[in-house]
Amino acid sequence: GRHFLTLAEYSREELLFILETAMQLKQRYLAGERVIPLLVGRHLAMIFEKPSTRTRISFETAMRELGGNAIYLSASELQLARGETIEDTARVLSRYVDAVMARVYEHYKIERLAQYSRVPVINGLSDLHHPAQALSDVLTIMEKKGRDITRLKIVFVGDGGDNVLHSLMLAVGILGGRIVIASPKGYEPHPSVVKLFNEHAAPNGGSYEIERDPFKAVENADVVYTDVWVSMGQDKEREKRLRDLEPYRVTVELMERAKPDAVFMHCLPAHRGEEVVDEVIDGRWSIVWDQAENRKHAQKAVLALLVP
Ligand code: CP
Repeated sequence: GRHFLTLAEYSREELLFILETAMQLKQRYLAGERVIPLLVGRHLAMIFEKPSTRTRISFETAMRELGGNAIYLSASELQLARGETIEDTARVLSRYVDAVMARVYEHYKIERLAQYSRVPVINGLSDLHHPAQALSDVLTIMEKKGRDITRLKIVFVGDGGDNVLHSLMLAVGILGGRIVIASPKGYEPHPSVVKLFNEHAAPNGGSYEIERDPFKAVENADVVYTDVWVSMGQDKEREKRLRDLEPYRVTVELMERAKPDAVFMHCLPAHRGEEVVDEVIDGRWSIVWDQAENRKHAQKAVLALLVP
Protein backbone atom coordinates (compact mmCIF):
# COMPACT_ATOMS: atom_id res chain seq x y z
CA GLY A 1 0.00 0.00 0.00
CA ARG A 2 0.95 3.65 -0.26
CA HIS A 3 2.08 5.56 2.79
CA PHE A 4 1.57 9.12 4.01
CA LEU A 5 4.89 10.13 5.56
CA THR A 6 6.11 13.51 4.25
CA LEU A 7 3.61 14.63 1.53
CA ALA A 8 6.47 14.42 -0.98
CA GLU A 9 5.09 10.98 -1.93
CA TYR A 10 2.24 12.83 -3.67
CA SER A 11 2.07 14.87 -6.86
CA ARG A 12 0.26 18.19 -7.09
CA GLU A 13 -2.70 16.48 -8.80
CA GLU A 14 -2.88 13.82 -6.08
CA LEU A 15 -2.77 16.41 -3.29
CA LEU A 16 -5.52 18.40 -5.00
CA PHE A 17 -7.58 15.22 -5.29
CA ILE A 18 -7.14 14.45 -1.56
CA LEU A 19 -8.18 18.04 -0.72
CA GLU A 20 -11.18 17.86 -3.04
CA THR A 21 -12.22 14.58 -1.39
CA ALA A 22 -11.86 16.20 2.05
CA MET A 23 -14.12 19.09 0.99
CA GLN A 24 -16.76 16.67 -0.27
CA LEU A 25 -16.63 14.51 2.86
CA LYS A 26 -16.89 17.65 5.02
CA GLN A 27 -19.90 18.93 3.06
CA ARG A 28 -21.67 15.62 3.43
CA TYR A 29 -20.89 15.55 7.16
CA LEU A 30 -22.22 19.09 7.62
CA ALA A 31 -25.34 18.18 5.61
CA GLY A 32 -26.11 15.53 8.22
CA GLU A 33 -24.40 12.37 6.94
CA ARG A 34 -22.68 11.53 10.19
CA VAL A 35 -21.45 8.13 8.99
CA ILE A 36 -20.21 7.53 5.44
CA PRO A 37 -19.52 3.78 5.43
CA LEU A 38 -16.39 3.58 3.27
CA LEU A 39 -14.25 1.68 5.82
CA VAL A 40 -16.67 -0.73 7.48
CA GLY A 41 -14.78 -3.50 9.26
CA ARG A 42 -11.42 -1.73 8.88
CA HIS A 43 -9.08 -1.04 11.79
CA LEU A 44 -6.54 1.75 12.24
CA ALA A 45 -3.81 1.19 14.84
CA MET A 46 -2.58 4.46 16.35
CA ILE A 47 0.84 4.33 18.06
CA PHE A 48 1.75 7.32 20.24
CA GLU A 49 5.23 7.91 21.67
CA LYS A 50 4.11 11.41 22.70
CA PRO A 51 0.86 12.90 24.04
CA SER A 52 -1.81 14.20 21.65
CA THR A 53 -5.22 15.82 21.78
CA ARG A 54 -6.05 16.74 18.17
CA THR A 55 -4.28 13.94 16.29
CA ARG A 56 -5.64 11.18 18.49
CA ILE A 57 -9.23 12.40 18.58
CA SER A 58 -9.45 13.51 14.95
CA PHE A 59 -8.13 10.17 13.64
CA GLU A 60 -10.35 8.23 16.02
CA THR A 61 -13.52 10.14 15.10
CA ALA A 62 -12.55 10.06 11.41
CA MET A 63 -12.34 6.25 11.45
CA ARG A 64 -15.66 5.94 13.33
CA GLU A 65 -17.39 8.29 10.91
CA LEU A 66 -16.16 6.16 8.00
CA GLY A 67 -17.69 3.09 9.65
CA GLY A 68 -14.33 1.76 10.88
CA ASN A 69 -12.51 1.44 14.16
CA ALA A 70 -9.39 2.96 15.72
CA ILE A 71 -7.16 1.40 18.37
CA TYR A 72 -5.09 3.69 20.61
CA LEU A 73 -1.69 2.23 21.47
CA SER A 74 0.64 3.98 23.87
CA ALA A 75 4.17 3.09 22.74
CA SER A 76 5.22 2.71 26.36
CA GLU A 77 2.66 -0.08 26.81
CA LEU A 78 3.71 -2.01 23.71
CA GLN A 79 6.51 -4.61 23.62
CA LEU A 80 8.36 -1.90 21.63
CA ALA A 81 9.16 -0.37 25.01
CA ARG A 82 10.80 -3.66 26.08
CA GLY A 83 12.92 -4.06 22.99
CA GLU A 84 10.73 -5.63 20.30
CA THR A 85 11.95 -4.07 17.08
CA ILE A 86 10.03 -1.62 14.91
CA GLU A 87 10.40 -4.11 12.05
CA ASP A 88 8.72 -6.92 13.98
CA THR A 89 6.04 -4.59 15.33
CA ALA A 90 5.23 -3.52 11.76
CA ARG A 91 5.04 -7.13 10.57
CA VAL A 92 2.70 -8.14 13.39
CA LEU A 93 0.41 -5.09 13.23
CA SER A 94 0.02 -5.70 9.48
CA ARG A 95 -1.61 -9.05 10.32
CA TYR A 96 -4.29 -7.40 12.47
CA VAL A 97 -5.10 -3.97 11.13
CA ASP A 98 -5.66 -2.23 7.78
CA ALA A 99 -3.55 0.87 8.45
CA VAL A 100 -1.15 2.23 11.07
CA MET A 101 -0.83 5.83 12.25
CA ALA A 102 2.17 6.69 14.42
CA ARG A 103 3.52 9.68 16.33
CA VAL A 104 7.24 9.25 16.94
CA TYR A 105 10.14 11.31 18.23
CA GLU A 106 12.54 10.49 15.40
CA HIS A 107 11.41 10.50 11.79
CA TYR A 108 13.47 7.42 10.84
CA LYS A 109 11.13 5.33 12.99
CA ILE A 110 8.07 6.07 10.88
CA GLU A 111 10.07 5.40 7.70
CA ARG A 112 11.14 2.04 9.12
CA LEU A 113 7.60 1.21 10.22
CA ALA A 114 6.44 1.89 6.66
CA GLN A 115 9.27 -0.14 5.14
CA TYR A 116 8.27 -3.28 7.05
CA SER A 117 4.51 -2.79 7.06
CA ARG A 118 2.18 -4.44 4.55
CA VAL A 119 -0.51 -1.84 5.22
CA PRO A 120 -0.45 1.95 4.75
CA VAL A 121 1.46 3.92 7.39
CA ILE A 122 0.43 7.48 8.23
CA ASN A 123 2.73 9.96 9.97
CA GLY A 124 0.94 11.52 12.92
CA LEU A 125 3.94 13.78 13.68
CA SER A 126 7.65 13.13 13.76
CA ASP A 127 10.51 15.47 14.63
CA LEU A 128 10.71 16.47 10.95
CA HIS A 129 7.20 16.27 9.47
CA HIS A 130 3.52 16.72 10.33
CA PRO A 131 1.81 16.02 6.99
CA ALA A 132 -1.71 15.46 8.37
CA GLN A 133 -1.57 18.90 9.96
CA ALA A 134 -0.38 20.53 6.72
CA LEU A 135 -3.19 18.94 4.72
CA SER A 136 -5.72 20.38 7.17
CA ASP A 137 -3.94 23.75 7.02
CA VAL A 138 -4.10 23.92 3.22
CA LEU A 139 -7.76 22.85 3.31
CA THR A 140 -8.46 25.69 5.77
CA ILE A 141 -6.53 28.24 3.67
CA MET A 142 -8.54 27.18 0.58
CA GLU A 143 -11.81 27.56 2.48
CA LYS A 144 -10.91 31.06 3.67
CA LYS A 145 -8.94 32.41 0.70
CA GLY A 146 -10.08 30.44 -2.34
CA ARG A 147 -8.78 27.31 -4.00
CA ASP A 148 -5.88 28.89 -5.86
CA ILE A 149 -3.31 29.29 -3.12
CA THR A 150 -0.50 30.14 -5.55
CA ARG A 151 -1.34 33.86 -5.50
CA LEU A 152 -1.22 34.09 -1.68
CA LYS A 153 1.57 35.32 0.55
CA ILE A 154 1.82 32.74 3.32
CA VAL A 155 4.25 33.70 6.10
CA PHE A 156 5.50 31.43 8.86
CA VAL A 157 6.92 33.33 11.85
CA GLY A 158 9.16 31.58 14.37
CA ASP A 159 11.40 28.50 14.21
CA GLY A 160 12.30 27.80 10.58
CA GLY A 161 13.28 24.25 11.58
CA ASP A 162 9.82 23.44 12.93
CA ASN A 163 8.18 20.15 11.83
CA VAL A 164 4.81 21.81 11.17
CA LEU A 165 6.50 24.44 9.00
CA HIS A 166 8.39 21.70 7.12
CA SER A 167 5.13 20.04 6.13
CA LEU A 168 3.38 23.34 5.41
CA MET A 169 6.20 24.43 3.08
CA LEU A 170 6.07 21.09 1.27
CA ALA A 171 2.27 21.21 0.92
CA VAL A 172 2.23 24.81 -0.31
CA GLY A 173 5.26 24.24 -2.51
CA ILE A 174 3.99 21.03 -4.15
CA LEU A 175 0.81 22.95 -5.00
CA GLY A 176 3.00 25.61 -6.65
CA GLY A 177 2.70 28.27 -3.95
CA ARG A 178 5.06 30.55 -2.07
CA ILE A 179 5.99 30.64 1.59
CA VAL A 180 8.05 33.23 3.46
CA ILE A 181 9.81 32.11 6.63
CA ALA A 182 10.58 34.75 9.26
CA SER A 183 13.14 33.17 11.57
CA PRO A 184 16.42 34.02 13.32
CA LYS A 185 19.85 32.77 12.19
CA GLY A 186 20.36 29.16 13.17
CA TYR A 187 16.66 28.32 12.77
CA GLU A 188 16.42 27.21 9.15
CA PRO A 189 14.51 24.34 7.50
CA HIS A 190 16.21 20.95 7.92
CA PRO A 191 18.48 20.02 4.97
CA SER A 192 16.47 16.86 4.28
CA VAL A 193 13.32 18.97 3.93
CA VAL A 194 15.08 21.48 1.67
CA LYS A 195 16.10 18.52 -0.51
CA LEU A 196 12.49 17.26 -0.69
CA PHE A 197 11.35 20.80 -1.47
CA ASN A 198 13.86 21.19 -4.29
CA GLU A 199 12.87 17.83 -5.78
CA HIS A 200 9.09 17.92 -5.37
CA ALA A 201 7.98 21.54 -4.96
CA ALA A 202 10.36 23.69 -6.99
CA PRO A 203 9.53 21.85 -10.27
CA ASN A 204 5.85 22.81 -9.71
CA GLY A 205 6.79 26.48 -9.27
CA GLY A 206 6.85 26.29 -5.46
CA SER A 207 9.22 28.65 -3.67
CA TYR A 208 10.32 29.59 -0.17
CA GLU A 209 12.42 32.44 1.14
CA ILE A 210 13.87 33.34 4.53
CA GLU A 211 13.45 36.88 5.89
CA ARG A 212 15.10 37.70 9.23
CA ASP A 213 12.89 40.74 9.96
CA PRO A 214 9.40 39.54 11.04
CA PHE A 215 7.79 42.94 10.35
CA LYS A 216 9.18 43.01 6.83
CA ALA A 217 8.16 39.37 6.30
CA VAL A 218 4.48 39.90 7.12
CA GLU A 219 4.04 42.97 4.89
CA ASN A 220 1.16 42.17 2.52
CA ALA A 221 0.70 38.70 4.04
CA ASP A 222 -2.56 36.82 3.50
CA VAL A 223 -1.69 34.19 6.11
CA VAL A 224 0.47 34.48 9.24
CA TYR A 225 1.31 31.11 10.80
CA THR A 226 3.24 30.22 13.93
CA ASP A 227 3.97 27.20 16.13
CA VAL A 228 5.29 26.57 19.64
CA TRP A 229 8.90 27.57 20.27
CA VAL A 230 9.86 24.68 22.54
CA SER A 231 8.41 21.24 21.85
CA MET A 232 8.93 17.95 23.66
CA GLY A 233 12.54 16.87 23.38
CA GLN A 234 13.87 20.46 23.21
CA ASP A 235 13.57 21.24 26.94
CA LYS A 236 17.34 21.44 27.49
CA GLU A 237 17.59 24.34 25.01
CA ARG A 238 14.48 26.05 26.35
CA GLU A 239 16.08 29.26 27.67
CA LYS A 240 18.16 29.85 24.54
CA ARG A 241 15.23 29.18 22.21
CA LEU A 242 12.94 31.57 24.11
CA ARG A 243 15.64 34.28 23.93
CA ASP A 244 16.33 33.77 20.22
CA LEU A 245 12.67 33.60 19.21
CA GLU A 246 11.36 36.44 21.40
CA PRO A 247 11.40 39.01 18.50
CA TYR A 248 9.19 36.62 16.49
CA ARG A 249 6.17 36.64 18.81
CA VAL A 250 2.94 37.19 16.86
CA THR A 251 1.51 40.38 18.36
CA VAL A 252 -1.27 42.77 17.35
CA GLU A 253 1.41 45.14 15.98
CA LEU A 254 2.76 42.37 13.77
CA MET A 255 -0.70 41.35 12.50
CA GLU A 256 -1.49 44.98 11.70
CA ARG A 257 1.40 44.99 9.22
CA ALA A 258 -0.21 42.14 7.23
CA LYS A 259 -3.12 42.63 4.79
CA PRO A 260 -6.32 43.93 6.46
CA ASP A 261 -8.04 40.58 5.81
CA ALA A 262 -5.05 38.43 6.84
CA VAL A 263 -5.72 35.29 8.86
CA PHE A 264 -3.74 33.94 11.80
CA MET A 265 -3.02 30.21 11.98
CA HIS A 266 -1.52 27.89 14.60
CA CYS A 267 -1.54 24.09 14.65
CA LEU A 268 -2.09 24.12 18.46
CA PRO A 269 -1.49 23.57 21.30
CA ALA A 270 -0.60 27.26 21.74
CA HIS A 271 1.72 28.61 24.39
CA ARG A 272 -0.12 31.87 24.92
CA GLY A 273 2.25 34.70 25.75
CA GLU A 274 5.19 32.92 24.09
CA GLU A 275 4.80 32.57 20.30
CA VAL A 276 1.42 34.37 20.20
CA VAL A 277 -0.54 36.76 22.42
CA ASP A 278 -4.17 36.28 23.49
CA GLU A 279 -5.30 39.35 21.49
CA VAL A 280 -4.24 37.61 18.27
CA ILE A 281 -5.26 34.00 18.88
CA ASP A 282 -8.62 35.17 20.29
CA GLY A 283 -8.88 38.09 17.86
CA ARG A 284 -10.49 38.77 14.49
CA TRP A 285 -7.62 37.23 12.52
CA SER A 286 -7.71 33.82 14.15
CA ILE A 287 -8.90 30.70 12.30
CA VAL A 288 -7.15 28.23 14.59
CA TRP A 289 -10.30 26.37 15.65
CA ASP A 290 -11.29 25.81 12.03
CA GLN A 291 -7.83 24.38 11.42
CA ALA A 292 -8.32 21.95 14.30
CA GLU A 293 -11.79 21.00 13.02
CA ASN A 294 -10.45 20.35 9.53
CA ARG A 295 -7.95 17.80 10.80
CA LYS A 296 -10.80 15.27 10.95
CA HIS A 297 -12.05 16.00 7.44
CA ALA A 298 -8.60 16.08 5.83
CA GLN A 299 -7.69 12.79 7.50
CA LYS A 300 -10.97 11.17 6.49
CA ALA A 301 -9.95 11.79 2.89
CA VAL A 302 -6.50 10.27 3.47
CA LEU A 303 -8.01 7.22 5.18
CA ALA A 304 -10.74 6.76 2.57
CA LEU A 305 -8.20 6.93 -0.27
CA LEU A 306 -5.36 4.93 1.34
CA VAL A 307 -6.94 2.18 3.40
CA PRO A 308 -7.78 -0.83 1.20
N1 CP B 1 -1.67 19.89 16.19
C1 CP B 1 -1.53 18.66 16.78
O1 CP B 1 -0.96 17.73 16.20
O2 CP B 1 -2.08 18.55 18.02
P1 CP B 1 -1.90 17.33 19.04
O3 CP B 1 -0.45 17.33 19.48
O4 CP B 1 -2.85 17.62 20.17
O5 CP B 1 -2.23 16.04 18.33
